[in-house]
Amino acid sequence: MMFRFSLLFSLLAHCLNAQNIINGQIFTPGIAIVDAPQPNTPLGGDTLQVALDVSSDGQLQLPPYPANPVSAINNITIYLSSYTTGKNFTISNGTAGAGNASLGAIMQQEPGSTVKHVNWVWPDCLVGDGDPTGSNSSRGVYNISIRQNFRLNGTDQYTIFDLPIHVTNNIPKEGIRPSCDALDNPLIDEEALVASANNFTRIAGTAIQTGGTGEGLGKPKPDAQPKDGLGGAGAVDWRTGIYCAWLAVFVFMLTL
Ligand SMILES: *[C@@H]1O[C@H](CO)[C@@H](O)[C@H](O)[C@H]1NC(C)=O
Ligand SMILES: *[C@@H]1O[C@H](CO)[C@@H](O)[C@H](O)[C@H]1NC(C)=O
Ligand SMILES: *[C@@H]1O[C@H](CO)[C@@H](O)[C@H](O)[C@H]1NC(C)=O
Ligand SMILES: *[C@@H]1O[C@H](CO)[C@@H](O)[C@H](O)[C@H]1NC(C)=O
Ligand SMILES: *[C@@H]1O[C@H](CO)[C@@H](O)[C@H](O)[C@H]1NC(C)=O
Ligand SMILES: *[C@@H]1O[C@H](CO)[C@@H](O)[C@H](O)[C@H]1NC(C)=O
Ligand SMILES: *[C@@H]1O[C@H](CO)[C@@H](O)[C@H](O)[C@H]1NC(C)=O
Ligand SMILES: *[C@@H]1O[C@H](CO)[C@@H](O)[C@H](O)[C@H]1NC(C)=O
Repeated sequence: MMFRFSLLFSLLAHCLNAQNIINGQIFTPGIAIVDAPQPNTPLGGDTLQVALDVSSDGQLQLPPYPANPVSAINNITIYLSSYTTGKNFTISNGTAGAGNASLGAIMQQEPGSTVKHVNWVWPDCLVGDGDPTGSNSSRGVYNISIRQNFRLNGTDQYTIFDLPIHVTNNIPKEGIRPSCDALDNPLIDEEALVASANNFTRIAGTAIQTGGTGEGLGKPKPDAQPKDGLGGAGAVDWRTGIYCAWLAVFVFMLTL
């Protein structure tokens, strides 16, 4: 019995890291908070819209940051990728493409705003309505893959956060749609991606140290050393969330 309990509790402890949505705000493994869209939402329309609070609800100032900041977001890149459809489109790699087919630096847009509204025109192969039809459709399940290069409490981090969505609503043919081929990138396997990112979980609500040149850390530290410790990508498996919810119910019943 005790063994079963400790096993379940260790599984549950793992689950707590798995997802962190508070009042509709998704706390990424990083500084940014996703205000929209919610996971597994069916999306369509003219553009894909993502709202990112890069101040973490006002905890961190906007750029320009002080010299040698203790915490900062260096940059954010975003891709729309799917192992199911085999596509990996650039939403923003920091350099705007012709006609903003891919977007410029996210952190530099809307300079006075803590929420960056990413507004990306769906490329041509996603035009359609409803579920994918046939095996060569590019519509269907995707991740909005949000990559943050940031510094938190004096430690440099790089994390990947995959937010699942369904590209199944109507995307009209009208308007100028960028070519999918021009935005597509090779897919990298999941294991390599996990190994390329830091294993970091931000506990929602915890403070962020701000200021420059080591302020808040006691003595200034020789920094600019990206921390080693390559670990897992901060990806969220939303199925895990459901599994964890059931696990919690089960644990609760055992305690009755
Ligand atoms: C979304 O990302 C997760 C890892 O973060 C991966 O397991 C899953 O297969 C991806 N989904 C798609 C549709 O590629
Ligand atoms: C993002 O920031 C990191 C760390 O400063 C840097 O190495 C990388 O080149 C930057 N990437 C982009 C796309 O700006
Ligand atoms: C691209 O986006 C930037 C930033 O939102 C904007 O200033 C610029 O006018 C846009 N360029 C085009 C060609 O739409
Ligand atoms: C799928 O691709 C094949 C080969 O490229 C093509 O012959 C076929 O018409 C395509 N089907 C659809 C529904 O686009
Ligand atoms: C950014 O993405 C666009 C579209 O995929 C690509 O053409 C361009 O080479 C990329 N730039 C960099 C610096 O990776
Ligand atoms: C998508 O392409 C970008 C740019 O090459 C790469 O950094 C990213 O890891 C790729 N995503 C996946 C899921 O392979
Ligand atoms: C950052 O520092 C604050 C204040 O010391 C602390 O409460 C918080 O847990 C730290 N965050 C991380 C990720 O270490
Ligand atoms: C990530 O860190 C957590 C706790 O710090 C640990 O339990 C987990 O095994 C790590 N994951 C990987 C892939 O290293």
